[in-house]
Formats: sequence, C-alpha cells, structure tokens
Amino acid sequence: MISSIRPITFDQEILKLLDQRLLPSEEVYLTMKSIEDCSRAIQEMVVRGAPLIGFTGIWGMALFIKHNPKATLEQFVRAADYLKDARPTAVNLAFEIDRCVEMARLETHMNALYPKLISHAKSEMNNLYEKNLLMAQTAETELISIYGDRPLNIMTICNTGVLACGVLGTALGVVSYLHSKNKIKHVYASETRPYLQGSRLTSFELLKEKIPHHIIVEGASSYLLKNKMVDAIFAGADRIVENGDTANKIGTSTLSIVAKHYGVPFYIVAPISSFDLNLDTGDKIEIELRNQNEILKYKDQFISHPDALALNPSFDVTDHKCITGIICENGLIRPTSPEHVRRVVEKR
Ligand code: MRU
Repeated sequence: MISSIRPITFDQEILKLLDQRLLPSEEVYLTMKSIEDCSRAIQEMVVRGAPLIGFTGIWGMALFIKHNPKATLEQFVRAADYLKDARPTAVNLAFEIDRCVEMARLETHMNALYPKLISHAKSEMNNLYEKNLLMAQTAETELISIYGDRPLNIMTICNTGVLACGVLGTALGVVSYLHSKNKIKHVYASETRPYLQGSRLTSFELLKEKIPHHIIVEGASSYLLKNKMVDAIFAGADRIVENGDTANKIGTSTLSIVAKHYGVPFYIVAPISSFDLNLDTGDKIEIELRNQNEILKYKDQFISHPDALALNPSFDVTDHKCITGIICENGLIRPTSPEHVRRVVEKR
C-alpha cells in the first residue's frame, strides 16, 4: 500500500511537484521557487486533489517566509489571502493556510517560521497516511456488515489516491487497502471529463498497484448500476458542510442520484480538513468555474467547433440525502444530519 508515486518531493531544500497535467505519458517534476509558483501550480492543476493542494499551500507559505524573512504579520496574512484564492472550492487549502497564519501569530521572530512550516508540511502529510488508513478500515467494517467477507466490485470517480493526497488516498485509499487484503474483485474508474482524473490518474495508480479495473465514461454509470455490476461507490470531497452536503468533482452528484435510484451504497471518504462547519448547506459553497478550453480542446487541439462555447463548472454538490454515509478519520457519519456531522467531526 506504500506507493512509489511521489507527487511532492522536498530534497535539500528544493520543492518539486510532479506535473499531473502530463500523466500518464510523462513523469516530469517542476521546481517551485516561490509562493507565486505554488499559486500557479494549484491554479493550473500541476497539483490537484483537495488534501494535496492544502499541503502545497503550506509549502507556498514556507517559500514566502524564506524569501521575506523580515515580513510583518500583515504581509504574511496578505500572502496567505493571495494563496487561498488559487482555487476556491476545496476547503483544505484555506484550512492549511489558516493554520500557517495561526503559527505566524505565535511567532516573535518571523524568520524562525520557515523551518517550522517545513516540518509542519511534512508531518501533515505523514499524519494523513494514518488518517487514510483509519478511513479505509471503517469502510471495510461497513462493507463487511453489508456483503460479508467476499471480494467486491467498487466504482469511483475523479482521482482520490496518492496523486490527490500525497499518501494512500481517501476513496481510492479504501480501494488500495481492500486490494491489499484480497477484497477487491474489480474497480470501475469513471473517466471524469474534462480533466480526465479518472482515466489518466486513477487508472495510472491502479495499474501501478496491479488492481483489476476498467475505465468507464461518465454516462455508463447507470448501465453498470442497473446491471448490478457494482457493490458500492466511493468518492472523495472538496468541501463537506454541516448538513452533510458535499462538493466534489463535477459528476459526483449525478452518480449519487443514480446510485440512490438503483439502491447501491454511495460513500464519501474525506479527512476532517475537508469539512467546513461554518456553512450550513451546500448551496453556500463557491463552485469553481474553469476555462472553457478544458472542454473544447484536448491538449492544444480543438475537439469541438472553435466557435462553440462551453460551460465548465469543476465541482457539483451532492445532496446529503443521496449519501449513504460519510467516512472520516473519526468514523462513519450516518445519518448525515447536522447533529451527527458535528458530533463525529468535533469528537476529540
Ligand atoms: O479538480 P481536482 O482534480 O482538484 O478535483 C479533485 C476532486 O474532486 C477529488 O475527488 C477531491 O479533491 C478529493 S481528493 C482526495
């Protein structure tokens, strides 16, 4: 389960990000020299996935203080606001950057912050591995209660593995963990238009781990669920609010509605850093609208008429009523009511 894929590396003070735009055909690392480099890498999706953009946020703040050791707290907060703007929907970015600001507030000499932020970034990534493992074990217990101990057919959307988390993964972490226990029969990875996180990234991870799978187009989900080819669906999250409504990659909501129709259990798997209990319902989540060329073109080639227009919301909000349960490091949240969400998330 320890993957050989390293989406972030930090060696001899050099921060490098694996350019996920080029996967799976090329494995190229880009060096990040400044907070601006990190912001651009997040915006342009060199790095993506809610937890990983959160970690890149910490590295970005570390680079800011490295180059501005005499910065005032106000300047640090301004830099934090700038970096938080890189992508709006995943709350992990703001969550991690706000924690950097809290660390800065406690500091009397800002130049002491650089090594502290570096070790904070490293320990956050290591801690996530333990959390992901707890989530996978909770998912396993839940699946045993439904299906007993037999190998299962699992469907997933987007990429929620090492490439999205830096370590094991959330929804895809469940798949890796179950596979390590010989409990995966087959995986169906939704292609995930337009950025193709499923066909380019999830399949890449599944191939590395030799997990049997097929890529499917988004529109095929109803065919598979109607024909009882899937035992359970696992998806990640970019922001989960108080009533359990969950923003995740565009298409997740559609999949959850189809799952409910055919009675297939549908789970969200996400760390507590993906919860935003300041919002009471999903209607209040800002949805990122991305460039239409992600839809109209493949690489630099138009695949639609050059005059066509495309609307490109990058996320949608899955209604809590369509979610069987939300799994975080503190356990399974079911029912997905505000009281229950708070009770589990705020459990110490
Ligand atoms: O646009 P992306 O690739 O950053 O979107 C990622 C997703 O929607 C993931 O499902 C989500 O961040 C969970 S990652 C563990």
